[in-house]
Amino acid sequence: MRIDLRSDTVTRPTTGMLETMLNAKVGDDVFNEDPTVIALEEKAAKLFGKQAGLFCPSGTMTNQIAVKVHTNPANEIICSRLAHVYNYEGGGMAFNSGVSIRMIEGNRGRFTAKDVLENINPTDDVHFPLTKLVTIENTCNKGGGCYWDIKDIKDIKEACDKYGLRLHLDGARLFNALEETGETPEEYGQLFDSVSICLSKGLGAPVGSLLLGTKDFIWEARRTRKLLGGAMRQAGYLAAAGIYAMDNHIERLKEDHQRAQQIGEMVEVLPYVEELLPIETNIVIFRLNDSISSADYLKALEEKGIIAVQMAPQLIRFVTHLDFTDEMLEKLPEILKNAI
Ligand SMILES: Cc1ncc(COP(=O)(O)O)c(C=O)c1O
Repeated sequence: MRIDLRSDTVTRPTTGMLETMLNAKVGDDVFNEDPTVIALEEKAAKLFGKQAGLFCPSGTMTNQIAVKVHTNPANEIICSRLAHVYNYEGGGMAFNSGVSIRMIEGNRGRFTAKDVLENINPTDDVHFPLTKLVTIENTCNKGGGCYWDIKDIKDIKEACDKYGLRLHLDGARLFNALEETGETPEEYGQLFDSVSICLSKGLGAPVGSLLLGTKDFIWEARRTRKLLGGAMRQAGYLAAAGIYAMDNHIERLKEDHQRAQQIGEMVEVLPYVEELLPIETNIVIFRLNDSISSADYLKALEEKGIIAVQMAPQLIRFVTHLDFTDEMLEKLPEILKNAI
């Protein structure tokens, strides 16, 4: 049995999801004629209390489109040093939008209104790029799946409003956060100018992310999606998977979180583990001590049937997901104990 803990993106569609996909009504979405894509976009927009939505191939694209539409070249954006949009999107913000990036050290990917205020450039001095956008990530992937205190986000929104900055949410795993906090998508919709959510992570769809915002914002986003080559034709088959995922796979995220907690209990007592980050959702990150390198550890695990990834030197990440079962969980203690 191969146990894949690299990411929650590795899941395969369930039988129910595949059946829904097969039965989807489709059309050419570039002509705005795919009823299933339209239904998904409207469903998500309504859930978040936004005017409109746009179905895109990936979370990278929804983030990149948001940055592009909110900014002009030579503007500056504020984000965490750990943000996906900065670390893992291939330098897309520089390439697509020509913006500079002000990084905040923060706390595992989270920061405060004070941090934002300290990093807004003065507008009356030509030396400085104009600060235009703040982007936050919830949950924070590189921070170990931690989620934000909504009060901090409200304070950041107030700071953004005061200084005329836009606020974008990389909500690739927002539903994981909401399952824990009990907050609603609508509360999040009210706080952000744009929201990106991923269907292909914890929700288990094979492809797809949604960008949500005002009608005008989404019209510009639609134009930008086209120029980036992301406008798809009979995308309704994929949108059907997204609708199925939203209807069936949100509440079950709790199971992934419980399994992550159980993995944490196993990991923290391992003699080769120096530190375990607090586990809040479906991501487990731990630091190996100097007795073994990440590369050797990952190789040893792979030989025993577990695959995982390194997040930084000596930092290993396990992510629980729809295809990670209790049967797999039961096998872990033995393998982890004897890995080295
Ligand atoms: C926080 C976060 N944002 C955005 C993305 C990008 O999503 P995609 O892989 O669909 O481009 C990811 C992917 O793992 C992510 O973890």
